[in-house]
Amino acid sequence: MNLLFVASECAPFVKTGGLADVIGAVPKALASEGADVRVLIPAYPALAELIANGKTVAEFGDLFGGPARIAAVEAEGLQMLLLDAPHLYDRPGSIYLGPNGQDWPDNDVRFAALSYAGAQIATEGIEGWTPDVVNAHDWQAGLVPAYLRQQGGRTPPVVMTIHNIAFQGLFDATRLAALGLQAELFTPHGIEYFGKIGFLKAGLALSEKITTVSPTYAAELLTPEFGMGLDGLLRGRQADLIGILNGIDLDAWDPGTDDALVANYSARSLKAKAKNKAEIEARFGLTPGDGPLFCVVSRLTSQKGLDMLLECLPGLVGHGGRLALLGSGEPELERAFIDASNRYAGAVGTIIGYDEEMSHLLQGGSDAILIPSRFEPCGLTQLYGLRYGTLPVVARTGGLADTVIDANEAALLAHCATGVQFAPVTATMLGHAIARTCALFAQPKVWAAMMRRAMRHPVGWDLSAAAYLDVYKSALER
Ligand code: ADP
Ligand code: GLC
Repeated sequence: MNLLFVASECAPFVKTGGLADVIGAVPKALASEGADVRVLIPAYPALAELIANGKTVAEFGDLFGGPARIAAVEAEGLQMLLLDAPHLYDRPGSIYLGPNGQDWPDNDVRFAALSYAGAQIATEGIEGWTPDVVNAHDWQAGLVPAYLRQQGGRTPPVVMTIHNIAFQGLFDATRLAALGLQAELFTPHGIEYFGKIGFLKAGLALSEKITTVSPTYAAELLTPEFGMGLDGLLRGRQADLIGILNGIDLDAWDPGTDDALVANYSARSLKAKAKNKAEIEARFGLTPGDGPLFCVVSRLTSQKGLDMLLECLPGLVGHGGRLALLGSGEPELERAFIDASNRYAGAVGTIIGYDEEMSHLLQGGSDAILIPSRFEPCGLTQLYGLRYGTLPVVARTGGLADTVIDANEAALLAHCATGVQFAPVTATMLGHAIARTCALFAQPKVWAAMMRRAMRHPVGWDLSAAAYLDVYKSALER
């Protein structure tokens, strides 16, 4: 089966979050099931080296205001198609935000162009290769089925994958012509969303199948609380919606070989983790102690619930715990965690920024990873935590609910616990979960058994890759 992925980021080339990890990992898993996957992403400056090695396989005289081409290149086991459109993507800074911290003002055109190019490849192919199915990821690729509709004729089916419904790509209706969209599609059954152009809405309304990244999130999306205005549409398309759990790249995330660690280890050599812990203590200015070392690796946004963690810090420190936090995002949260590391000097350490190597070290040396998200479509850091024996302490929502087995009495008796869950998602219950974690940590045998079990928990892509193939097959049978 030939598959075209359309997305806005892909690890290890360009990453702002879990979307990139997934786009960089699924194609390899699908390839080992016999599929031929090509990944279309914009050619941002970070990809300069890749682009230089690319072979031009398609050209556009004028793609929304300037010339563009598609460069094909194989790298890191992936077959990449880079949309090289300097007027849209060749700019410094973040891939989504301008220097002022606001969305680039032309983000509508930037990602309409991505979708348009995807639709073009879907129908015309490149060098004799055409996709059987297109998998569009998140709002940035949401217009793929809209442009396919406009082209008409025989077009491949589209599977739309929701990684996070909080980001919908809503733009003013006056932009319709600038985006090359026909007025006939601007209806509630098409791309219109409460008077605006909805990129994700378009993808959900016009695609053959819809997937999201965990079974629990697939169910949550049907409710007003989690569906964020699109729950009605999704309830209407329930038969076409399926949740498929994310996996992780087992080569990139392996405590036995990870270069970012001071000491590598396995379930049989857990003691080596202590060397990584000492390195974290040194880098975060933490005083060694007997209680658990918690870490956080996260975007700092209200989704991630870290404001609740701020409320719980007195309790965390009071129970003998320590915290190392790596993150960046909302300025108020950044400031609050820097303040906390001054107030609880030696017990709380904060590094503001995005640092891939440090994120690996934190998984390699911490005892537990805290993820108190208000909603979490899947979440990857708890999966890395499981693989590294860094026990996840998580809110019971979305993919967090589907991947961590809470150490309640029944699970402890049945020897199946791999972490701690809490619900409802409030500061009070998070505080309780932290206290429970500290109590479990004080029982070294129980804790070590949980670590070994967590490290055995299957977090690869095999099962999920097979599930994606089933969805692609059913999309073809539409
Ligand atoms: P989301 O995509 O919502 O941010 P995920 O848990 O799915 O959440 O994925 C987050 C990814 O980004 C993980 O690979 C995580 O390690 C990484 N990450 C988040 N914040 C940072 C940071 N400050 N430095 C390095 N990596 C980070
Ligand atoms: C989104 C979600 C996260 C998920 C990731 C990859 O960023 O917030 O929960 O793991 O996409 O699917």
